[in-house]
Amino acid sequence: HLPVDVDISKLTPGQQMTVVWQGKPVFIMRRTPEEIALLQDHALAEKLRDAESAANQQPAYARNWHRSLVPEYGVYVGICTHLGCVPGLNQPTGNTADTCGGYGCPCHGSKFDLAGRVYKGAPAPYNLPVPPYSMPSPTSIRLG
Ligand code: FES
Repeated sequence: HLPVDVDISKLTPGQQMTVVWQGKPVFIMRRTPEEIALLQDHALAEKLRDAESAANQQPAYARNWHRSLVPEYGVYVGICTHLGCVPGLNQPTGNTADTCGGYGCPCHGSKFDLAGRVYKGAPAPYNLPVPPYSMPSPTSIRLG
């Protein structure tokens, strides 16, 4: 597989784009300063099933509180770790963790925060995977 270069220069804070990489949807989100602050909230961490990302769902360089190379951008394989549906950004699931923002899975209500970390009580066992990627420039992401 050849790497896929993505121009992220048009992405504004709070926006997300979806690209296809190795046949899978990959979410690239640009976080707002408020969202970045929220990811460091310890009250939020207590609601997460795998807060420390110990389940190895990311490359070593994304094993940090923002699960990415730089806090401003999140990059996730958009496939629910339960049975493979595509979670939606800010999609209501009926889960009470919804007020924190993030992703909701339309199939069985798993909820993920803005770093793709799964909330407790969800059927999904793991955080959304982070694909291998690099940033050749501040406005581009290379997947693979
Ligand atoms: Fe996402 Fe079941 S496939 S919760």
